[in-house]
Amino acid sequence: MNLKKGFLAACCVLAIGFLHAQNTKPGLYHEPFRPQVHFSPPEKWMNDPNGMVYNKGVYHLFYQFYPDATVWGPMHWGHAESKDLIHWQQKPIALYPDSLGYIFSGSAVLDVHNTSGFGKNGQAPLIAIFTHHDPKGEKAGKADFQNESIAYSLDDGKTWTKYSGNPVLKNPGIKDFRDPKVMWFEASKKWIMTLATKDRVTFFSSLNLKDWKKESEFGAQLGAHGGVWECPDLFPLSLNGKIYWVLLVSINPGGPNQGSATQYFVGNFNGNSFIPKNTATKWIDYGPDNYAGVTWSNTGKRKIFLGWMSNWLYATQVPTVKWRSAMTIPRELSLQEVNGDILLASKPAKEFDALRLSPKVVKNAQVDGSLNLTNKFGQLPKQFELKLSIKEVKDFSINLSNTVGEQLIIGFDKARNSYYIDRRKAGESSFNKDFAAIHYAPKLSASKSIDLTLVVDAASVELFADNGLSVMTSIFFPKKPITNLQLQANGSLFTDLEMIPLKSIWK
Ligand code: FRU
Repeated sequence: MNLKKGFLAACCVLAIGFLHAQNTKPGLYHEPFRPQVHFSPPEKWMNDPNGMVYNKGVYHLFYQFYPDATVWGPMHWGHAESKDLIHWQQKPIALYPDSLGYIFSGSAVLDVHNTSGFGKNGQAPLIAIFTHHDPKGEKAGKADFQNESIAYSLDDGKTWTKYSGNPVLKNPGIKDFRDPKVMWFEASKKWIMTLATKDRVTFFSSLNLKDWKKESEFGAQLGAHGGVWECPDLFPLSLNGKIYWVLLVSINPGGPNQGSATQYFVGNFNGNSFIPKNTATKWIDYGPDNYAGVTWSNTGKRKIFLGWMSNWLYATQVPTVKWRSAMTIPRELSLQEVNGDILLASKPAKEFDALRLSPKVVKNAQVDGSLNLTNKFGQLPKQFELKLSIKEVKDFSINLSNTVGEQLIIGFDKARNSYYIDRRKAGESSFNKDFAAIHYAPKLSASKSIDLTLVVDAASVELFADNGLSVMTSIFFPKKPITNLQLQANGSLFTDLEMIPLKSIWK
């Protein structure tokens, strides 16, 4: 090694040491409970994902954001961008409250044909469609304090100009009149807005995103009604060459496991009205912590979903200090036929696989009573995927625990034909009386076996069972990281197992 090379090598070692120190230093993205494979804001309050649109190789994620506190307040649209749906770059706030009110949830589209006329020099504008929520009107007891407005961007989402003619859709006197999700309906060459209007959704159409006409209503007598309807989404998905329309509707409260949750309907949409194929209530995720989720627009046939990983029951009380809330991992949606019914399945988007490190695999492990896998896998990494493939449908549980005896139990209860997540002893829960609970999700698949993927992060678990048909998302707040893994079964059970450590998205 000559002197020059030696000097360079020394510099490299120093630089790596410095970077390492930076990465391991406590601080931003290293705080207790800070998700390592999920998007969370650097600081302060976040709720619903908004304005998700894909354009020029970039996934935009806007979100309900209050930059002055870690509780809900006057809403802004925060903004982050990603090239791969996984690694996010924080951007300046996109939309601020103004004289018409706070900026509530909504969507964004690429106006390819410049129907709005906001485009310039052949540049198609991005258009955000959102609810203006007027707090003064609300306080005064008026009914029309939520109205729909638009803003446009000609620099790929960097800066936004609100339309001078706002609001573009005036409230006819309905207290809950919000969360516009807009899509292009090619068959009639018009825009369709799906809007949450109290206990139903209302469809509106427009040729230019500025003038809106009511088409029809859906759902006053259908689905779950334990709370107000919010954050709808409408999109087509194909199955065996046939197109079906999926309508997502979040409701709060009234979810299957208390509080906030998202139901869906599968049916047909003809540009005017939505006709469901089947009217039984269905949930996209049975866990307590996936709310207000919608799909990215402009992603072609792929439908990629992201939800807010919290619940209005306790969102403002969870024990994170610098920030509050994270998003789910992005999920690819698809349809599956089960016993003649068409169901919606969610699976981690394939981009997520890029985070995988070398897996630890055990084939045909026998669980007879209990099997401690910490001996085989060593201490669990901070974030990981766990895959189980069990050839029969039987009671079993996965026990994830830490050195202070806290445990998160995920399992299957055959008598109930349900998966469950038990977070009763999984860490801090004193902040809300409803938090420490066990939640169930029915096994919807007709299969005689069980396949299960868990995505475990610092303060959350996501369960995808049976090809994404039974899904649960649950947050939890362990005082020490989860390090031990144990399987439990009554009698003997055989399973293939894979534990896949995941890289942090913040490094
Ligand atoms: C859903 C929601 C929306 C509303 C937003 C306000 O979580 O209540 O209906 O637009 O949050 O932050």
